[in-house]
Amino acid sequence: MPDISYQPLFDLLENTDLAPWLETLPTRLEKSIHGANNGHLPKWLDALDALPDVAPSHFDQQSGAVTIGQNSDLSAEQQSALRETLMAFHPWRKGPWNFFGIGIDTEWRSDWKWKRIQKAISPLKDRLVLDIGSGNGYYSYRMAAEGAKLALGTDPYLLYVMQSFIARRYLPQNHPAWVIPFGIEQLPPSLPVFDTVFSMGVLYHRRSPLDHLIELREMLRPGGELVLETLVVEGPEGHALLPRGRYAKMRNTWFIPSCLTLERWLERCGFKSIRLADLSDTTTAEQRSTDWMTFDSLETFLDPNDPSKTIEGYPGPKRALFVAEA
Ligand SMILES: C[S@@+](CC[C@H](N)C(=O)[O-])C[C@H]1O[C@@H](n2cnc3c(N)ncnc32)[C@H](O)[C@@H]1O
Repeated sequence: MPDISYQPLFDLLENTDLAPWLETLPTRLEKSIHGANNGHLPKWLDALDALPDVAPSHFDQQSGAVTIGQNSDLSAEQQSALRETLMAFHPWRKGPWNFFGIGIDTEWRSDWKWKRIQKAISPLKDRLVLDIGSGNGYYSYRMAAEGAKLALGTDPYLLYVMQSFIARRYLPQNHPAWVIPFGIEQLPPSLPVFDTVFSMGVLYHRRSPLDHLIELREMLRPGGELVLETLVVEGPEGHALLPRGRYAKMRNTWFIPSCLTLERWLERCGFKSIRLADLSDTTTAEQRSTDWMTFDSLETFLDPNDPSKTIEGYPGPKRALFVAEA
């Protein structure tokens, strides 16, 4: 069975303040990938191995789709084999991506979120960046394109980690975009070295949101920047929605605060210069089923008679983007 390597990540960390992590990181990565006994792993590793062995004539991680190669780099036969190989990684949630002219229309237009974020944050050039709950690393590639020294995504879902390795297969070894298969609880408890920490779409999945904010602060160097994106509801300071069960069919949804409540939480957890940079309703244009994510999506999570509400009768999804300083 082929395998994937994090060696270039270890080489990169060697020359940063993250070097002490190297004492435990390699063993833990090995355990998370191979010790989890994920029955799909052989299929994903074989699919990575089946990617076409060609040098892409073109790269682009700055426009909407993270793009590797173009149509003319492959024969028609290679194209159709590649489409099948990429399908082995279904469901594709975060993107879009384009591999050798094959556009992966993902469930989410993550490029829309990135556009909202890009203009709100400090430049990422030369920064050590951590993205908690990164999904398949779409954002890590976009962060790397902004010149981050390291764009380290972390997500416990092994399929997403495998998806992140497809683009890596074609980029220089020292490319700084990575996804590691860890939940936040598997990161060292306090590693106050990152210049920017992202937590997007994670806070409402944490049973203890204040502890999550404190964990994020403890990953930042003093003066570092938090980029927090999460569901919010309308309401005064002090208000937060705690759904009875699911929210928009999502399990494990805990607190959805109002913006004023979230601002207070951030303040109490030690953040300064707190800014609400964006507030957007999530629409069925931004999150929907596609050929590359054929399961149900937002449309069926909303009340068919009143799409401003979730199917459970809660206010429909609205997302806030906060930027704050540690
Ligand atoms: C709603 S998605 C958000 C993905 C991405 N950050 C975005 O904004 O598009 C939440 C992500 O958090 C990941 N996740 C779940 N539990 C986690 C944990 N304990 N630590 C870090 N990430 C986790 C999920 O696998 C999923 O990819």
